[in-house]
Amino acid sequence: MKKLRSQEWYGREGRDGFVYRSWMKNQGWPHDLFDGRPVIGVCNTWSELTPCNAHFRELAEFVKRGVWEAGGFPLEFPVMSLGETQLRPTAMFFRNLASMDVEESIRGNPMDGVVLLMGCDKTTPSLLMGAASCDLPTIGLSGGPMLSGKFHGRDLGSGTGVWQMSDEVRSGKMKMEEFLEAESCMNRSKGHCMTMGTASTMASMVEALGMSLPGNAAIPAVDAHRNTLAQLTGRRIVQMVQDDLCMSKIVTREAFENAILANAAIGGSTNAVIHLIAIAGRIGVPLKLTDFDQLGSSLPCLVNIQPSGKYLMEDFFYAGGLPVVLRELGEASLLRRDALTVNGQTIWKNVTEAPCWNRDVIHPFSEPFKAHAGIAVLRGNLAPDGAVIKPSAASPQLLQHRGRAVVFESIEEFHSRINDESLDIDESCVMVLKNCGPRGYPGMAEVGNMMLPAKVLRKGITDMVRISDARMSGTAYGTVVLHVCPEAAMGGPLALVHSGDKIRLDVPNRSLRLEVSEETLARRQSEWRPPTMPERGWQRLYVEHVMQADKGADLDFLVGRSGAQVARDSH
Ligand code: FES
Repeated sequence: MKKLRSQEWYGREGRDGFVYRSWMKNQGWPHDLFDGRPVIGVCNTWSELTPCNAHFRELAEFVKRGVWEAGGFPLEFPVMSLGETQLRPTAMFFRNLASMDVEESIRGNPMDGVVLLMGCDKTTPSLLMGAASCDLPTIGLSGGPMLSGKFHGRDLGSGTGVWQMSDEVRSGKMKMEEFLEAESCMNRSKGHCMTMGTASTMASMVEALGMSLPGNAAIPAVDAHRNTLAQLTGRRIVQMVQDDLCMSKIVTREAFENAILANAAIGGSTNAVIHLIAIAGRIGVPLKLTDFDQLGSSLPCLVNIQPSGKYLMEDFFYAGGLPVVLRELGEASLLRRDALTVNGQTIWKNVTEAPCWNRDVIHPFSEPFKAHAGIAVLRGNLAPDGAVIKPSAASPQLLQHRGRAVVFESIEEFHSRINDESLDIDESCVMVLKNCGPRGYPGMAEVGNMMLPAKVLRKGITDMVRISDARMSGTAYGTVVLHVCPEAAMGGPLALVHSGDKIRLDVPNRSLRLEVSEETLARRQSEWRPPTMPERGWQRLYVEHVMQADKGADLDFLVGRSGAQVARDSH
């Protein structure tokens, strides 16, 4: 085997070799572990403040078991962990920061390959982005979804159930005591959100990209199979190092196309659009917003999981998981069958005989769960650089709609006015929220699925057209237009919308138009003033350099990869 990268540290003689090895020996490692065997970094996003990843120290032990078995030397290291439900102003604000931590931790340390332990929403893209910029042999392992939530005899999906029940409380259909009781029933085991939210979507993307062993997306966190997968992952990365199977050989254009197809077929999160574009930017694969529409929007949704359907990830696992979906896509001649995966096999070889055990959970391509899925990309004078909507989570009758805009200039204004009974709004209106994009919030928070006014909910109405430069939780639903580019804080047309303007949404024709004259818009543009810049710190760096959602909301100077070489020694 060729001399490994870690030997630039541990294979040295003299003072430098002494320094690199000797301090490691304070952990009790015998001298022969530095003999040139593959050193495997286990990149861990464990944190008690990231409850979805709180079991990762245990999971890492199974990975390490596999690494030892295969003759490698595992070394676990922490990176910034992003807890979706805990971090303010939004975990997305820190995705790029965490990716820098990952990239520099990998590059700066003596490892030959890396296992990425990912779970909660932003922990997956941040690790993939950082690892892509280094391009070592890399394998992903998701932490797995929670068991299904259970409340009063029915399933309760994380996230999705919160939005549903809070609307029921506000419309008077649910008592506050019941709502409080449900809080203790929703999230009842280790793992990440068990709906097809962003975490499960991104775990599916990891598998569809070929970056994990088959089965990664759906095995529940507490199922013994998850630990088995961890151990096999540990074994596999050692061989990947020996084969020099680096990340850029896996995440090719074909792999991204498979991810887009899979995202449509699972009814996946709109957040996958931003994350996949950002990962592609790091590894150097051209990927555009329009690719999602061209490749995915004519596909049916096969998977009957919340928020598009009724089941949960535990059911998806029992039905056969993502391999069944990929097999369906392959049999429909859509899957890029020759895309290589981390186990050294093509994706088609991995899934060609995947059995399905429940056709109500995973429908066949010939009898889909929903005829139209994927992400529709809208353009028009309100979104010159694009906006997205997830038709499978929207109300069909609202996909073509013209209505009067009711504008909220900020999330604070929205919260202060939405339940005001005197607010001039009804179900035919279009709710518009500004200044929640990458720069404006900052961090592009998941506030695009604005709650409906209580007086509309009381009429039994559960959906209205909503438009913003924000994102939406993958667990949410509704006729919600997101990621409007350019965002309001950049002076995009969204900034120029006034209450009372008419907006026309036409999803079948991919159009989003503000019906206001050019002269009026020009006048409003000349009156628009940009928000003040943050004074210092990460917020300043982020706002100065973050790109728009159609470019993946990465920092402009992080795009691309620079490999894993570090020429200089530390002493
Ligand atoms: Fe972590 Fe949903 S809050 S995955």
